[in-house]
Amino acid sequence: MNLTLRVWRQPNPATPGRLVEYKAENISPDMSFLEMLDVVNEGLIKRGEEPIAFDSDCREGICGTCGCMVNGVAHGPDPGTTVCQLHMRRFRNGDTITIEPWRAAAFPVVKDLVVDRSALDRVVRAGGYVSMNVGAAPDANAIPVPKTIADEAFDAAACIQCGACVAACKNASAALFTSAKLAHLNLLPQGQAEKTRRTIRMVEQMDIEGFGACSNEGECEAVCPKEIRITNIAKMNRDYLKASLTGVR
Ligand code: SF4
Ligand code: FES
Repeated sequence: MNLTLRVWRQPNPATPGRLVEYKAENISPDMSFLEMLDVVNEGLIKRGEEPIAFDSDCREGICGTCGCMVNGVAHGPDPGTTVCQLHMRRFRNGDTITIEPWRAAAFPVVKDLVVDRSALDRVVRAGGYVSMNVGAAPDANAIPVPKTIADEAFDAAACIQCGACVAACKNASAALFTSAKLAHLNLLPQGQAEKTRRTIRMVEQMDIEGFGACSNEGECEAVCPKEIRITNIAKMNRDYLKASLTGVR
């Protein structure tokens, strides 16, 4: 396949970025999107040009680092799929593909397609943990958890902290991400002791980081590679209302 890429190039946060056109030639349809970028980068390096900076780690849809906008869609056109798991057979020979970084005030551009998503780490640090000793695996398994609740918590725990929900939202809201982290712990017995404090701290940290408010657009759910549901946001809002009535910080 031969493609034309329009890639956001920005050498550093202080320099304005722009879209630059590149040719991606002899691309196998079986390559992943990141492998296609690797081929383009090899060509750039051979020509003595600066390779395109992008994030990746696992390349298996697990770590959440690879996210970028592909033709204006966070993680590209395939539902429930990260950029690293997106395959070139999804595109047609001769296509033009526009590749841009996540755009949100809370995610400043570091270089090209790489953004600083440490705001999400700080939201987790504000309360996304269980600080009491829950014992070894047999002890934890001794606590009865209804199957429906365990499934709900597990689905929320599938969030890989990629930030696509923020990138897709016109308000750059991190409500889906934060609500997934809260639901994961707030639903389980081990998470009850700190539920009130956790909910208040994580929601407040989300606001401190400069993420916008949720206005129920649903774009976040549509692009989430782990298909986290927006019902978690309703749960977060309920938990936050209850928690804020207690005054616990
Ligand atoms: S909720 Fe989905 S889109 Fe948002 S950070 Fe988690 S996995 Fe990524
Ligand atoms: S590189 Fe890990 S999810 Fe894509």
